[in-house]
Amino acid sequence: MKAVAVFPGKPNSVHLADLPKPSVNDIPDGRGVLVKVLRVGVDGTDKEINAAEYGAAPEGYDFLTIGHESFGQVVETGNRVTELEPGDYVVATVRRPGSSIYDLIGTNDMTTDDTYYERGINLRHGYLTEYYVDDAEYIVKVPRGLREVGVLLEPMTVVEKGIAQAYEIQRRLRVWRPRRAAVMGAGTIGLLATLALRLRGLEVTAFGRNPKPSLNTDLIEAIGARYESTQDVPVLEGARMYGPFDLIFEATGFSPIVFESMQALNKNGVLVLSSVTGGDRKVEVPADKINLEFVLGNKVMVGTVNANREYFEMGVRDMAQAEAEYPGWMRRLLTHPVKGLENYEELLEKLTAAQGAIKVFCEVAGF
Ligand code: BGC
Ligand code: ZN
Repeated sequence: MKAVAVFPGKPNSVHLADLPKPSVNDIPDGRGVLVKVLRVGVDGTDKEINAAEYGAAPEGYDFLTIGHESFGQVVETGNRVTELEPGDYVVATVRRPGSSIYDLIGTNDMTTDDTYYERGINLRHGYLTEYYVDDAEYIVKVPRGLREVGVLLEPMTVVEKGIAQAYEIQRRLRVWRPRRAAVMGAGTIGLLATLALRLRGLEVTAFGRNPKPSLNTDLIEAIGARYESTQDVPVLEGARMYGPFDLIFEATGFSPIVFESMQALNKNGVLVLSSVTGGDRKVEVPADKINLEFVLGNKVMVGTVNANREYFEMGVRDMAQAEAEYPGWMRRLLTHPVKGLENYEELLEKLTAAQGAIKVFCEVAGF
């Protein structure tokens, strides 16, 4: 079967590879689930993998099948799978367990191992192929009514984990009633973070680089959030006008904004960082001031990566609520479909160059 792959370490090596079709019996104990891939989204991580800045092939292979934002349909299940059946729509998680204590309790997103296994990213083949098989443990059912937007679940889980971590940390306060939130970045993750925070009843100000109007800023305003371009209103000024913020979700990919965000945070506030920044940028910051305000204001900053099954389940619930509250909104994020695995070049090209793209994804098969 066809698979879209790269040779890790070799820039622009995306190509069509050939893999044998997997079988439910590849997974032990009758827990296998064979899934037909319907759609796969791509993001900055795929861009970096194709640029040879990231990613590693599974043992025994010189290539890595990419794609970690999956959506598919169950074809066959092993005899000890009770929670899924053929025809179910599903999304698979990305990271697989290593050996740290966090992996052993099912929270492999919190691994302390140096080597981690991520399908489509690091040491495990991904989902940009025709079929995949995995343990039912890593496969999450998506209700039929969400199938049009199911491919957004994996990016949604990044947001779900970050917000869940924030609320978990804030239990230190005995009572925490966040009212004002800021989201840094108006890309896919920024938009989904704005959505998740609006669903929780917060007043949200989203900051982005580009001026209004655009599809992104229309989407932000359509769910009752505010958008400010940092070209007109720098973060600190925005914080004076609309803040300080009880919760800030950073998703710009631009690390200097972290230090501005630290200064826009309310007392007892929490700043969630989700950008994976591979560069080596340096900035000068008012270190004493930032430190003093953090100490005197009991503030918290937390990093978040990946998501375990729990956050996929939360994501499904939030997406269902989103469809009820803002019908049709999520579908508007699916801006750039590319039909067929064989059009992988177009897929990567849209990912790197398409104007106004929010989510670029491959329509591997119809449903
Ligand atoms: C993926 C995460 C992954 C992270 C780091 C992101 O693009 O969505 O699942 O943990 O990259 O590899
Ligand atoms: Zn990703």
